[in-house]
Amino acid sequence: MTDTEATIVTRDPSDPNWWRQATVYQVYPRSFADTDGDGLGDIAGVTSRVPYLAALGVDAIWLSPFYPSELADGGYDVADYRDVDPKLGSLDDFDGLVAAAHGAGLKIIVDIVPNHTSDQHAWFQEALASEPGSPARARYIFRDGLGEHGEIAPSTWPSNFGGSAWTRLHRADGTPEQWYLHLFAPEQPDLDWSNPEVREDFHTTLRFWSDRGVDGFRVDVAHGLAKDLVEPLRDANPKDFGLPIDGSDPIYDRDEVHEIFEGWRRVFDEYDPPRTAVAEAWVARERVSLYARPTELGQAFNFELTRADFDPVRFRTIIESNLELAEQSGASSTWVLSNHDVVRHASRYGLPQGAPLDAWLLSDGTEPALDREAGLRRARAASLLMLALPGSAYVYQGEELGLHEVADLQPDDLQDPVWIRTEHGRKGRDGCRVPIPWDESEPAFGFGAHEPHLPQPAWFREAAVSVQDGDPSSTLSLYRAALAERHRLQQGEDLTWVEGGDPSVVHFARHAGWHSVTNFGDVDVALPAGVVLVSSGPVTAGADGAPRLPGGTTVWLDPR
Ligand code: GLC
Repeated sequence: MTDTEATIVTRDPSDPNWWRQATVYQVYPRSFADTDGDGLGDIAGVTSRVPYLAALGVDAIWLSPFYPSELADGGYDVADYRDVDPKLGSLDDFDGLVAAAHGAGLKIIVDIVPNHTSDQHAWFQEALASEPGSPARARYIFRDGLGEHGEIAPSTWPSNFGGSAWTRLHRADGTPEQWYLHLFAPEQPDLDWSNPEVREDFHTTLRFWSDRGVDGFRVDVAHGLAKDLVEPLRDANPKDFGLPIDGSDPIYDRDEVHEIFEGWRRVFDEYDPPRTAVAEAWVARERVSLYARPTELGQAFNFELTRADFDPVRFRTIIESNLELAEQSGASSTWVLSNHDVVRHASRYGLPQGAPLDAWLLSDGTEPALDREAGLRRARAASLLMLALPGSAYVYQGEELGLHEVADLQPDDLQDPVWIRTEHGRKGRDGCRVPIPWDESEPAFGFGAHEPHLPQPAWFREAAVSVQDGDPSSTLSLYRAALAERHRLQQGEDLTWVEGGDPSVVHFARHAGWHSVTNFGDVDVALPAGVVLVSSGPVTAGADGAPRLPGGTTVWLDPR
């Protein structure tokens, strides 16, 4: 099936529940398609690929930040929340993208970054030029240092990118003065969300994009907005899933954050259909669903699969618990195998279980050795399983091409602030952000006329859309077939486990006509009876001629 032959599924644009079981395709705009030849992808590039995305069969496009930015953190350092980075286009281009997407039946979700601005944001520039204690500084978190001369940072809080979360300012004559908080890079100062002006300004931003036709928001670091700033500042806990479940950490996942999102919900509900949102909240599993309550953001990412080995027990446990938690909150669940922050799942599954990924990247992908073929086979199986689950599936650009991580980027090419901030202890996330290969016969594999901002490896050629298009065994064809079937089959949000006795198999039914069976093992198993609807790899036959499901393979079956 080529782009032009594809059937575009008709969806009801006014359905307020469109998000509950949507497949959302994440575009990292600077690495998607470059139409003006500057080596950076742009908004017009995304628009040019809307037919590709519609034919792929996704329901929505989520755009990572495209706002004016100095790119200290790939655009997550936003200098102006209500504009388009001139390097990527203009507001007119953005309106053109929304019109093209809507015309093709696709929704548009934009990334909103409320925890911190860029240090180039007008507010931070004003704060720098203002005195301690001024209203301009009160939009951020400035504090005097500890110690006799204020030379000690106000707390031990670490930056996510390495080093301290505090940076000290100096006056023009070199005299040191206050410190400011940045949970990420120093170019990303944290806002003070107890300040009503900050809250009001974000409501304005949500309305600005909603008025332009945006259907939803992905909320960056949703769990970081509220901080306990009562002095002395308390030590923080280990991050992510190690956070306490009683909201007692001083910087992450505090109960006060929920009141902020109740305010956002009131803004979303001003629109018809209401705007949707999904929280990025790296918190203990029990707390993720709080962000997804219908009175708040409505949905939250479940990231556990990005940290899970290709293992039947892990997958089943994660699926069970997340369906349960989603049900409790009234949301639908979410599923993520890859995004712009993690090593691509084809590579994760091609390494020995539990392999330390940062060390593997530091070795340029040589230690331990990557089994590319097994990784891709398992990735296809995991993706097909994910696409059968009730809830929203988030697909990251390039995973439909079966891309591996580019693990051998060289120091001069690295852009992620993690590399510098950890003093070269971690390479960071550039390896999953290399521009997409569209056409094997064009410069930069069709990404754009100029050398891309991150170099593409030679092996991207074989993964190009032009190579996979029309090849029924390609990963692209698998995603297209699976998404078309998902549209045809999906009804309700049920899931029933089917117990077959083999511990390496995960088998569930969505309803009578739709079963998903995954063999997580290495040896083939008997294939349950039924008609194969989609298969992530070839089904084989045993000595008796009966069909067998090889290791690392998922099939969708109609067991009639
Ligand atoms: C989120 C983004 C990540 C970014 C960070 C700081 O985790 O996904 O890419 O670096 O927030 O904004």
